[in-house]
Amino acid sequence: MRQFSGIVSSLLVTASVLTSTNADYVLKEGPLDTPWTKTVGLNPWPQYPRPQLERSAWKNLNGIWKYQNATSPDDVHKLPFANSLTSEVLVPFCLESALSGIMNEYSTYSWYGTSFDVPSSWHAGDRVLLNFGAVDYQATVFVNGHNVGNHTGGYWSFTFDVTDFLKANGTNELLVFVYDPTDRVIDGKETQIVLGKQSLHFNHIFYTPCSGIWQTVWLESAPAEHITELHLDANMDGRVNVTVYSSYGWDSPVEITIYEPHSDTIKAVGKGTAGTAFQFTVDSPDLWSPDSPTLYNLTATLGSDIVNSYTGFRTVSRGVINGIQRPLINGKFFFWFGTLDQGFWPDGIYTAPTYEAMVSDLQALKEVGYNMVRKHIKVEPALFYKAADELGLLLIQDMPSLRTYVYTNPEPKSCPPRTAVGSPEAQQEFDSQLALLIQQQRNYPSIVTWVIYNEGWGQDSGNPPDGRLTDMVRSLDPTRLVNSVTGWWDHGFGDFHDNHRYPQPQCGTPWYSLENTPYDSSRIGIQGEFGGIGHNVSADHLWKEKEPIDHIANIYSITTDLKAWNHNAHILLGELRQQIEHYACSGAVWTETTDVEGEVNGMLTYDRRINRMDKDQWKRDIQALYDTAERRTMNATARIMSREEAMDDMGLA
Ligand SMILES: *[C@@H]1O[C@H](CO)[C@@H](O)[C@H](O)[C@H]1NC(C)=O
Ligand SMILES: *[C@@H]1O[C@H](CO)[C@@H](O)[C@H](O)[C@H]1NC(C)=O
Ligand SMILES: *[C@@H]1O[C@H](CO)[C@@H](O)[C@H](O)[C@H]1NC(C)=O
Ligand SMILES: *[C@@H]1O[C@H](CO)[C@@H](O)[C@H](O)[C@H]1NC(C)=O
Ligand SMILES: *[C@@H]1O[C@H](CO)[C@@H](O)[C@H](O)[C@H]1NC(C)=O
Ligand SMILES: *[C@@H]1O[C@H](CO)[C@@H](O)[C@H](O)[C@H]1NC(C)=O
Ligand SMILES: *[C@@H]1O[C@H](CO)[C@@H](O)[C@H](O)[C@H]1NC(C)=O
Repeated sequence: MRQFSGIVSSLLVTASVLTSTNADYVLKEGPLDTPWTKTVGLNPWPQYPRPQLERSAWKNLNGIWKYQNATSPDDVHKLPFANSLTSEVLVPFCLESALSGIMNEYSTYSWYGTSFDVPSSWHAGDRVLLNFGAVDYQATVFVNGHNVGNHTGGYWSFTFDVTDFLKANGTNELLVFVYDPTDRVIDGKETQIVLGKQSLHFNHIFYTPCSGIWQTVWLESAPAEHITELHLDANMDGRVNVTVYSSYGWDSPVEITIYEPHSDTIKAVGKGTAGTAFQFTVDSPDLWSPDSPTLYNLTATLGSDIVNSYTGFRTVSRGVINGIQRPLINGKFFFWFGTLDQGFWPDGIYTAPTYEAMVSDLQALKEVGYNMVRKHIKVEPALFYKAADELGLLLIQDMPSLRTYVYTNPEPKSCPPRTAVGSPEAQQEFDSQLALLIQQQRNYPSIVTWVIYNEGWGQDSGNPPDGRLTDMVRSLDPTRLVNSVTGWWDHGFGDFHDNHRYPQPQCGTPWYSLENTPYDSSRIGIQGEFGGIGHNVSADHLWKEKEPIDHIANIYSITTDLKAWNHNAHILLGELRQQIEHYACSGAVWTETTDVEGEVNGMLTYDRRINRMDKDQWKRDIQALYDTAERRTMNATARIMSREEAMDDMGLA
């Protein structure tokens, strides 16, 4: 029997493969839950997971799978029987999460197993594709004992055509061998992988890691010649630029049909050949913007393969308005105001418990007038980006960082971190996964900027690669802006000069206190992080682990009085508003959307049960930022205050 309860499992899994007694799935009691934890059930994330390339014949493989840790890389050659694995795990929640039913087992190597039938209604001659939304960090996949392929990188989707390995009739066995070193030393060697904020070494600003399958796994049926990828952007002039990739790699004819919003009426049809970019124009489309996030459904057709997708018409560019470099959406400047969005969950770690939970974070921001989110060194499931497209939230998308420093070459943990990078292989892996980020996330209209490096994290300070990578990103995607380095370790590249400062902003000001240098007026001035003020809550809303609770005071300011916290926020937003008025400030990112573990500085607590914002006050303060930026933009006589005037203004002269 499968149990489903909030009670800690008392089962001790000590058995080996041979003497195993199976441990049934039990929802573990983690250090904290959310209002959704107990609603997840045994069929989590039922939504079709890839809205940019959606097929109708599909089967969700999420749910209860078998799991057992492994001990060495050689175990990949010793295939177990899926059924013999000792524990049950709820896919797609990573092994460290309470929702997975495993938790607290930080194993480097793991086996996952399940079985599946191919729906008999699927067209017999068609191919069966096995898709993974994401597996952290490396997955080697076996179907009926055949190695069907492997994939490296914890944030990316991948697909294997498993048709040739299926049983003609009956149940198929699926095994996944996972390797995830996180930041562990293996055989005396430091590992350095693309991992963002995950760490096995407790530190206030790094969190519980995620290993294994953490996004939806699904099967689908497609004709032998089918669409493998769709690259599509649509701009304010109605021009659509599209490349349809075919499984055959041949230049077969392809067709794109765009529909009027919420209608079957065809708006435009574009024709071309697979594998080659082609363009066509849609007559006066309604544009996409945060205020009016109009989307258009479309279908892409290649032979008998028809997939659903969508787009939004918008142009991201950069221009000088009244002497100041500004980011432009559809040719217009408006102030970008967002939060630092970590995407961690107390019950699912990297995976939100449900789709509704994930979207509720974004709705809470939109409700008070935020128009942007900085997705911080993590990449989300595709449905997150669709939600941002639908809600009208600009996204600044960070590349997940390599490990900040390696322990054999210890560096002070204070900010800004001095970075020692690992091997050239780690850099090469970072480069190729950066290309994957753009390849896989490029269609979402909400994404307006790519970030290559967060501060100096994982950036080789002796031989900074940000210039080379900026060129690479621009050549892969000329339709967006590039923020080469957000905060401190800037070397003059990209479209932004981005400052981090806590708690007060210094946005586009004539001096940045840490470096005592002015902002670079040839680029867009933006405050990539500020705020971060803390508000402690009662233990029932905290991540109940000793070290994080002991570190709660490691923050720029802390209070237990919510009125005081809101008042402090009001003062900081007022300072930001003055900087918009006097200097060259075009956008800012408040730290952060939610609390995470020992950090208590969110708009929402980590369990999402308390929204700290005095909503009327935040709405007014945020609107004042937009109004000030607009007035500044309209005012032909406005100019940037000099350092001397600013000092004078602040009584510092
Ligand atoms: C593997 O699982 C067993 C049984 O739960 C546990 O005792 C052991 O510590 C785990 N190994 C690793 C490397 O996590
Ligand atoms: C992954 O697959 C490639 C071939 O596609 C192979 O060369 C490599 O050894 C495989 N790696 C693992 C870990 O199985
Ligand atoms: C497959 O199995 C089903 C039911 O078990 C049976 O009706 C069908 O004839 C079988 N098909 C083949 C090709 O063996
Ligand atoms: C269309 O997109 C491709 C990349 O997919 C790019 O190389 C090409 O320059 C774009 N063409 C136009 C006209 O924008
Ligand atoms: C796109 O299609 C879906 C599914 O039919 C529908 O629910 C949605 O409203 C459509 N969106 C637009 C913008 O037309
Ligand atoms: C925060 O609150 C928790 C729970 O009440 C308490 O244990 C902790 O000491 C507090 N920390 C600070 C810095 O106020
Ligand atoms: C325009 O800017 C100038 C210089 O900063 C200022 O004196 C003036 O009041 C501004 N005008 C408006 C309408 O805001």
